[in-house]
Amino acid sequence: MKAIAKVRPAPGVEIVEVPEPAVRPGCVKLKLEAASVCGTDLHIYQWDAWSASRIKPPRIIGHEFCGTIVEVGEGVSDRQVGDFVASESHIVPRTSEYLKRGLGHVAPETSILGVDVDGGFATYAVIPEDNARLTDRSVPIKIAAFQDALGNAVHTVMDGPVAGQTILITGMGPIGLFAVTICKALGAEKVIVTEVSPYRIGLAEAVGADVILNPTKDDVASELRRIAPQGVDGTLEMSGHPSSMDLAIDHTRPGGRISLLGLFKDNCQTINLNQAIFKGLAIHGIVGRKLWETWDQMGELLASGKLNLDPVVTHVMPYLEFERAMELMSAGQAGKVVFTFDD
Ligand SMILES: NC(=O)c1ccc[n+]([C@@H]2O[C@H](COP(=O)([O-])OP(=O)(O)OC[C@H]3O[C@@H](n4cnc5c(N)ncnc54)[C@H](O)[C@@H]3O)[C@@H](O)[C@H]2O)c1
Repeated sequence: MKAIAKVRPAPGVEIVEVPEPAVRPGCVKLKLEAASVCGTDLHIYQWDAWSASRIKPPRIIGHEFCGTIVEVGEGVSDRQVGDFVASESHIVPRTSEYLKRGLGHVAPETSILGVDVDGGFATYAVIPEDNARLTDRSVPIKIAAFQDALGNAVHTVMDGPVAGQTILITGMGPIGLFAVTICKALGAEKVIVTEVSPYRIGLAEAVGADVILNPTKDDVASELRRIAPQGVDGTLEMSGHPSSMDLAIDHTRPGGRISLLGLFKDNCQTINLNQAIFKGLAIHGIVGRKLWETWDQMGELLASGKLNLDPVVTHVMPYLEFERAMELMSAGQAGKVVFTFDD
């Protein structure tokens, strides 16, 4: 079969011909139907410091995908041949004490599909049965594929109250865009967003953000004071830009919450901590998806028909056109790029 793999510790990836993976105990084998590209795949492609320290080539990449189960391994009890499933990229052993306590998303013994073990940019993939999440066939494959990323947004949005609230979301990458439509579906009163890229501002309009502010053009602080004089109820940080941290602390109302998903280029950031303390802000780090609460919440949201996800899928292409996807993503001229597997 053909796969997209990092074959040597250097920038780029290659299309390789490899044997079909054999199913293993506790695992299922999927025939891929669609996959999607995450910012992490771009980091791996570019071979940044994180990728170089973490990935041991050769490695088939890709951790957001969906497909049909064609074979189940010994001991598999909850999945069967023919099931339509999507990938959860974080592999946490069932024996994990964290998982048993409902904290699987922060389990130290996590390994990641397409990073630590082979992923899904290939005709077939073999993954643990728990990581193959049952998905209703009514969900289009181009959406089913990116539930891992959608789950990041569901986890962040549902980290605090949403209905009737004014929510600020900083950064309109795919996850920020997902968060907009999730907030609206859950009854947020107003969703205010910030974004610097004109292309992504267009996507924010398309998913239904109520107010869009561009820090390179607008006086964001004055606008926020005018729109939400008491402060917003919650801020979802999804840009990874340091200025968003100040914005969040300045403009979240006393007793509000700040949910941090975006990753900062520099680990150390200076923030006005005393202001956060005196305002009694709840500041939460968000990682991955809650196993498996977030997946259940996401299934309900998808079934509700209230999510406006189509505008985020800006490109659909055969997976072997991986290089084109990387060019679009590096140029910031894409929302979600989805791969098909018709060959
Ligand atoms: N914590 C986790 O488990 C987890 C998982 C996945 C992704 N992430 C992180 O979440 C963030 C969002 O992911 P994504 O795939 O949507 O990323 P992305 O990089 O595509 O989106 C970030 C967006 O922020 C915008 N931006 C940059 N500077 C800004 C500023 N000053 N104000 C407002 N917007 C600004 C960018 O133009 C971009 O559109 C990223 O930082 C990513 O690394 C974290």
